[in-house]
Amino acid sequence: MTELRRLPEGLVNRIAAGEVVERPAAAVKELVENAVDANARQIVITLHDGGKTLISVADDGHGMTAEELPLAVTRHVTSKLQGDDLTEIRWLGFRGEALPAIGAVSRLTVTSREIGADQAWMLEVEGGVSRLVVPAAFGSGTLIKVRDLFFATPARLKFMKTSRAEAMAITDVVNQLAMARPDITFTLKSDDRTRLHYDAAQGELMEARLNRLAEIMGRDFADNAITLETERDDVRLTGYASLPTLNRGNARLQFLFVNGRPVRDKLIFGALRAAYNDLLARDRHPLAALFVDLHPSSVDVNVHPAKAEVRFREPGMVRGLIVGALRHGLNAVGHRASTTVSQAALGAMQREAPGTFFAAPGAPNVSHQKGSGASEVSQGALMPTASPVAINEEIREGDVSDSFPLGAARGQLHDTYIVAQTADGL
Ligand SMILES: Nc1ncnc2c1ncn2[C@@H]1O[C@H](COP(=O)(O)OP(=O)(O)OP(=O)(O)O)[C@@H](O)[C@H]1O
Ligand SMILES: [Mg+2]
Repeated sequence: MTELRRLPEGLVNRIAAGEVVERPAAAVKELVENAVDANARQIVITLHDGGKTLISVADDGHGMTAEELPLAVTRHVTSKLQGDDLTEIRWLGFRGEALPAIGAVSRLTVTSREIGADQAWMLEVEGGVSRLVVPAAFGSGTLIKVRDLFFATPARLKFMKTSRAEAMAITDVVNQLAMARPDITFTLKSDDRTRLHYDAAQGELMEARLNRLAEIMGRDFADNAITLETERDDVRLTGYASLPTLNRGNARLQFLFVNGRPVRDKLIFGALRAAYNDLLARDRHPLAALFVDLHPSSVDVNVHPAKAEVRFREPGMVRGLIVGALRHGLNAVGHRASTTVSQAALGAMQREAPGTFFAAPGAPNVSHQKGSGASEVSQGALMPTASPVAINEEIREGDVSDSFPLGAARGQLHDTYIVAQTADGL
């Protein structure tokens, strides 16, 4: 008979760590979330080798005392979940898993000075083994350094991607948290180069949010987005979604935030598809950043090891609210085409001989380099007033002439004229 044995604690922790931190970006997400939960106004993230050899996160939040440091790196110890009600989660963290998980698979140092304390303290954890807390020189707040992530789990180490790929994933993570919190200054440095820097945005929330979104998703998005602000049964939806003329070939610039938490939920993709169904070719996707705020008991955030998904108690209602608000907003703007499409189209028409501008699918798009998620303006968007022939149909170069006698919409000029492509020209 095989022997049943209880696994040693160190191994249990390494196994659990595999779920919580499966790559450097996951560690960054946890550390930045902790800084946000600590009420930081400023968060500085530094990477070496895409976070593989060093991730450091410094914040100016409330910090920790010497007594709290060993607890912070102990599994299932948290200051965030008051009582034992998992339906009352008001922080980004709640499990007391992240720091111990990171400490189990790396060389971790936590240096912290509580607000008002006259001394900072430091604790080192290496492969799950904690040292003694020692005094340290540090301003106020918390500095976490993670060196040699996964050195203690060689199997995981083998599956790490290139430094470049890891740095890109980290950039995405930081961008999403920065979108959720325009009131916080974020800086991301990678191998001594500043990759991102967003100053805390001023003004009331919607304005601050739009400014932050403009920095991250591109100025085009801010200039060509409809504003959503609606409420039903204590569920509040705010945010921005692009005019149909500003769209992309993938859904990567569609973001959902639930109670300030960035989540990848299928619900948003479906809702956007439904709302833009009549306005966009099927292979084009609008840009959107939607913020749903509701009572914590109406959403379960404890459904995914990296807290990347949520489960709404009433998903149909939330989806309906999003689709309804989008449709309403899109109807209200009616003819308004994105400024960038109109101007880009005009400029190109002036520069180039007729017939050449719209020649190739996906080609000469206007892209703007500001921010990592530079937006792209493309053909294929169809405004509601355009000829109905292309609605609900996938528009592809080549099959235009047979299926669409009036041509396929390729752009809009002067906010009025639809430019359509037919077999023999524009
Ligand atoms: N940057 C920080 N500033 C102040 N306190 C912190 C910071 N990071 C961690 N802590 C403290 O350490 C505790 C443990 O952090 P950890 O991330 O492991 O768990 P958590 O945030 O409570 O839950 P989760 O595992 O869901 O993230 C926190 O509850 C908090 O009290
Ligand atoms: Mg945490």
